[in-house]
Order: sequence, then structure tokens, then C-alpha cells
Amino acid sequence: MTPWWAGQSILVTGASSGIGRELARGFARDASALVLVARRMDRLEELAQELRSAHPELAVHLVPADLSRQEERSRVVAEVREAVGELDVLVNNAGVGDQAAFTDAQWDRLERVVDVNVLAPLHLTHEFLGSMVARGRGGVLTMGSGAGHVAIKEAATYSASKHFIDGLMESLRMELVGTGAVATQVCPGPVPTEFDVAAGAADGLKGLPPVFEVSAERCAEDALAGFARRQAIVYPGRPYRALMGLLPLVPRAVLRRGAR
Ligand SMILES: NC(=O)c1ccc[n+]([C@@H]2O[C@H](COP(=O)([O-])OP(=O)(O)OC[C@H]3O[C@@H](n4cnc5c(N)ncnc54)[C@H](OP(=O)(O)O)[C@@H]3O)[C@@H](O)[C@H]2O)c1
Repeated sequence: MTPWWAGQSILVTGASSGIGRELARGFARDASALVLVARRMDRLEELAQELRSAHPELAVHLVPADLSRQEERSRVVAEVREAVGELDVLVNNAGVGDQAAFTDAQWDRLERVVDVNVLAPLHLTHEFLGSMVARGRGGVLTMGSGAGHVAIKEAATYSASKHFIDGLMESLRMELVGTGAVATQVCPGPVPTEFDVAAGAADGLKGLPPVFEVSAERCAEDALAGFARRQAIVYPGRPYRALMGLLPLVPRAVLRRGAR
């Protein structure tokens, strides 16, 4: 079935690896224009080449940028408007972790987690959502995490950054009722990507048994299917979805003991 974003322009952050690269591949099937953002230009060029040969009518624009920096984010916004005009779909996928006890963590790493996981999606959403609402169509798809629904030991700032995404996306969803625009968050459990290495160790949720793990491809496909249905939250993979469905029934004290 043709998704509602067919023929539209779509920006994917963090498209150079992992889940973001798979999301870009998925959106490329139906979009008219894709804007791909990340720091590693060589990776973006490789992906662009692949997408252009698979979808000759698709316009692919590359914007290398460090989203932790406000001036770079403003440049991205300007380049996007120049390349495709107003965006139809914003995919806030770029994210970083930092695996360390809070008191041992280096400040610049914690600051980067907040800049990339919190300020970048907040800034880009603020720039682009208004025109989606004005045109009565479009949407924002943002990568949250299971870590945004529970506490994660030795990843406090990462977990807090994803709790921010949960609050932001749930609140936006309420504000968007009746506007024609949609806000969806994807909250994966463990997905084998480059995330662990970049974080300096493991995402806290990787303590879960392997049955809850999904590939980046599967994660992206579930995200696209949920976004197509205009779902509020997507939990990729059936076993993990069932687990997260039970979460509201578990008292916080029990969750705290589990996280320890
Ligand atoms: N993997 C998991 O188990 C898991 C679980 C739950 C949620 N998530 C979330 O899923 C999202 C994608 O993660 P992933 O697993 O696919 O990790 P990944 O393979 O490490 O990909 C992260 C992406 O973010 C980009 N990025 C990082 N810092 C950036 C910066 N300063 N400026 C611009 N782009 C930046 C990276 O590109 P460059 O390095 O080229 O800049 C890369 O494309 C993240 O938001 C993560 O929190 C992942």
C-alpha cells in the first residue's frame, strides 16, 4: 500500500549508519526528495549512490553537519529550504549514548548526548513543524528508546534524553490533533548497530535477553509501518512490543530493582 508520504520531501538525520540508514532506504521507496544528514560525508555519498540507482526519480540531497552545534543546525535548516522548500516529513534519528557511572562521566560527552538527542530534535522540529501544520499535512518521526520509559543504570543522561523525547512527542501529539500533521516516536529495545561503540559500551537495554533484539532493518520497517498508521509509539519487534505493553502494569519500585 502506498504510504501517505508518497511524493513528499523527507529529511533523515543520522542516515550514515544503523537504523537511520535503513529508514532512509525505506523512505526512498516512496519519497520524491530525501535529505540525508550526518557528519560522515563518505557514508552519506555511498548511500546516496545506492538510492539514486535504485530510485532514479528520487532527488537525494546530502547535508554533512554536526547536529550538536546550533550554528550547524541552522545551516541544515537553510540548506534544506533551499534544496526542497518546506519539508513534509522530519525524521529525528541521530543519537548518541554515553555508558558510564554519572559521577565518572566526562562533561563534554554528557553535553553531547543532550545536544544531539535533545536539542537537535527540538530545534529541527521547531523549525519544520509549523509549516506542516499550516499546510495540514506531514509528520515528525523521532527515535526515542525503551530507555526513555525506564531508568537505565550507568546511562542516566542518555535515559533522561530519551525521557525528554517521550514527553515532547506525547505533548506534540496532543497539540497536533485535528491539524493533519502527525508525531510518532519509535522506542526500540536492543538493535545491533554502531551505537555501542560510539557510546563507549552498551545501551542499558542490551541487558535484555536476545529474544528482544531486532535488526536495524526490522526496526526501520516496523517504524515505517507504525508511522504509516499514524501511531503514537512504535516498539519494534513482537516480543519486545509485548514486553513494553506490560510495562505500565509494573510498579516503579520493581522496575528500579530490575534496573539495578
Ligand atoms: N541501537 C540501539 O540499540 C538503540 C536502541 C534504542 C534507541 N536507539 C536510538 O536509535 C537512533 C539511531 O541509533 P543507531 O543504533 O542507529 O546508532 P548508530 O549506528 O551509532 O547511528 C547513529 C547516527 O547518528 C549520527 N550522529 C551521531 N552524532 C551526530 C552528530 N553530532 N551530528 C550528526 N549526526 C550524528 C551518526 O552519524 P555520524 O557519526 O556520521 O555523524 C549516525 O548516523 C538513536 O537516536 C538511538 O538513541 C538505538
